[in-house]
Amino acid sequence: MSGGPESAVSRETVSRETDRQSDQSLNGDDGFTAPYASLSVDETPIGAAAHRASQVLHPGSVSLPKPPERRVLTIANQKGGVGKTTTAVNLASALAVQGLTVLVVDLDPQGNASTALGVPHQSGTPSSYELLLGDVTAKEAIQQSPHSERLFCIPATIDLAGAEIELVSMVAREGRLKAALTPQALGDLEADFILIDCPPSLGLLTVNAMVAAKEVLIPIQCEYYALEGVGQLLRNIELVQSHLNPELHVSTVLLTMYDGRTKLADQVADEVRSHFGEAVLKAVIPRSVKVSEAPGYGMTVLDYDPGSRGAMSYLDAGRELAARTAANSTQEKK
Ligand SMILES: Nc1ncnc2c1ncn2[C@@H]1O[C@H](COP(=O)(O)OP(=O)(O)O)[C@@H](O)[C@H]1O
Ligand SMILES: [Mg+2]
Repeated sequence: MSGGPESAVSRETVSRETDRQSDQSLNGDDGFTAPYASLSVDETPIGAAAHRASQVLHPGSVSLPKPPERRVLTIANQKGGVGKTTTAVNLASALAVQGLTVLVVDLDPQGNASTALGVPHQSGTPSSYELLLGDVTAKEAIQQSPHSERLFCIPATIDLAGAEIELVSMVAREGRLKAALTPQALGDLEADFILIDCPPSLGLLTVNAMVAAKEVLIPIQCEYYALEGVGQLLRNIELVQSHLNPELHVSTVLLTMYDGRTKLADQVADEVRSHFGEAVLKAVIPRSVKVSEAPGYGMTVLDYDPGSRGAMSYLDAGRELAARTAANSTQEKK
């Protein structure tokens, strides 16, 4: 009986229910109340929940503010497994669901972002590799994700694995991605956001990503040694800033794989907030099975289980990221 298909279905239902129940507790009294204290009325937990429900039921019905100019974010952390790729695809999907046009550039030879976005990336597909070599234009390499008309991807193939070495002898080797992503090169794609998913290293691929972007988004896993290596990452950002791209800055830090049941997760969150201050998004991504299952189906968690707390938290993160643009541009205008 226990191995039968019916029990499998009911187990699945139970696990989804539990996922939602713990989502509610996230908005309740397990340490998540405080961040809402500074928010305006429509940003209260109930207001935010209503907004998210509306997004899930009618994708694109409520639009986030378009940034005054295209925002390019590099998602970097040389540590592997901290949630770079997961953040790149789910944040992109969250922005697209809420009305913005987003391009994800997959710069990791593993091609996990391409997989999660449901975009073919077998060897030979026009990809970020050919783009860096100058063999194709961005327009030729861009593919639309099958799950959204506003979500696009330049995939990575395994060919990219050799690029770190091939790039070394090339002219203007650090600026090749930037040169390949000009508005003209993108053709008619009017992307509001470009998110670049970096490999887990600080080599030439990551440097290219840092030269092509103004903003760095650092995902930090709420785990032991969370800040290990972050100092080295910051020093690299400073080097790129002083020699190659003066506008580069860490605009956003996102806490990922947060487990509200552990004290450690809270300690890490506090430490990261005291280190990075305002750059840290109030939205925190919980550890959630749905988030890790989604790529196996060629989906983001927003398509795979839109009501799950993983999907909700990425929607919140997307909203916060887009709202910051509006706030920043108002400040700049003053
Ligand atoms: N919020 C989350 N909850 C559960 N698993 C997650 C979450 N975020 C990422 N993962 C899983 O952790 C692993 C590493 O994440 P990934 O985004 O690939 O990290 P990176 O790109 O930094 O190497 C993947 O198996 C991914 O599915
Ligand atoms: Mg990755």
